[in-house]
Amino acid sequence: MKRIKAIYPGSFDPPTNGHLDLIERGSKIFDELVVAILRNPEKDPLFSLADRRKMLEAMTSGFDNVSVDTFEGLTVDYALRVEATTILRGIRAISDYEYELQMALMNRKLQPGLETVFMMPAEKYSYLSSRLVREVAQLGGSIACLVPELVAQKLREKIDVAHKFENGDPAAGKTPSEGKSKSRKKKS
Ligand code: PNS
Repeated sequence: MKRIKAIYPGSFDPPTNGHLDLIERGSKIFDELVVAILRNPEKDPLFSLADRRKMLEAMTSGFDNVSVDTFEGLTVDYALRVEATTILRGIRAISDYEYELQMALMNRKLQPGLETVFMMPAEKYSYLSSRLVREVAQLGGSIACLVPELVAQKLREKIDVAHKFENGDPAAGKTPSEGKSKSRKKKS
């Protein structure tokens, strides 16, 4: 019987509950799903590729048919390299559609044998994006329920380090566990 292998490419900076929701849905309809994190030299991500990989690996450890990988270059080339036949992308709202359609059609032009499958995450995540999560977290808002706890923890660590750096703390170059830990004002 034909097995369907799909890739779920993205930046995942950071991965959110919306991504996880889509991964769960994808894992149910594809035999194999690879979450593929793009290394984009043009972007300056908040989280390193290694951090994003670790977070996604932890988030997806409960799914037998889901793995995490990183790639550079064209998504279609990566898909061919790992012998996937399908690209999974999420559409949250109509506003996503135009960009996603454009990408899907360009990918089809580049590689006609690959199909893009769109899935919708749960409605409760329809407003959720990595960009907004970063912004809310950086400005001290609550990101509970938007990202898994391990991602929230990593975000808090990043923001603590950034605040210490801004305040000229010499320990800022080190991870919070290595540096002097200052109490941080928590906002709910
Ligand atoms: O999570 P994102 O940032 O919306 O993901 C966008 C991504 C990584 C899927 C897209 O930028 C991409 O595929 N980049 C790889 C380069 C490529 O293939 N470009 C042509 C796309 S039509």
